[in-house]
Amino acid sequence: MPRAKFIAGNWKMYTTLEQARQLAQRVAQGVDSVLAQKVRVAVCPPFPWLLPVAEVLRGSAVALGAQDCHYEREGAYTGQVSPYMLREAGCQYVIIGHSERRHGLGESDEFLNKKLHGALRAGLHVIFCIGELLTEREANQTEQVLQRQLLGGLAGLTAEQLQQVTIAYEPVWAIGTGRVATEEQAEHAHAFVRRTIAELFGSNAAENVLIQYGGSVKPENAAGLLKQPDVDGCLVGGASLNAEAFLAILRTCL
Ligand code: 13P
Repeated sequence: MPRAKFIAGNWKMYTTLEQARQLAQRVAQGVDSVLAQKVRVAVCPPFPWLLPVAEVLRGSAVALGAQDCHYEREGAYTGQVSPYMLREAGCQYVIIGHSERRHGLGESDEFLNKKLHGALRAGLHVIFCIGELLTEREANQTEQVLQRQLLGGLAGLTAEQLQQVTIAYEPVWAIGTGRVATEEQAEHAHAFVRRTIAELFGSNAAENVLIQYGGSVKPENAAGLLKQPDVDGCLVGGASLNAEAFLAILRTCL
């Protein structure tokens, strides 16, 4: 059976409350039952807008996700957000390991692994991001980096738990730069990720795991990327802030 397509919008630290509501409304209206049958859709607004956006999305085919979480259920962790709180706020998904946290905030594979376990314990589905820096690609270290991030990040997970994880391959040099990976580069990396998952969790898990591509995805390049055999969806940043652009990306799955 072919794998489902899954496209998520990462709104990062953008939108006012009113913009967030309107964006969610337009996306929800645009994802009709025909489109919803072809592609799983989620949007990931900033934390303070999760509840109002959940309200807007209620009854629609668009799921809610958060952009990060802590690994504990509760505690003296000033400024952190528990995965259980995210569940209660209506989230089904959480992004973990985004490069803007790995490289911008120094989050390690080990730390991300704790978050992943915490999120799964809370019943969230995790979008786990991996990807190499430009210097690493140029030094031919892409596969080594991806392997390290997968081994470290997914440590201690069972094949059953992996069913609640989507991998997002986001080459750091393609994020927010307008410089998208070629279809060949994306497919090559995705196939490598799937082979690594097969080694770690078995061929059945590898066959079923969804692998999104992220990095300057736009309506103009989405179709070419999505038709690659190992590209099962995308994690969209900038273009997900525009309802028409995001919907146009979704419609490439029709
Ligand atoms: P852009 O689509 O803006 O390049 O961002 C990609 C991304 O980081 C999604 O998580």
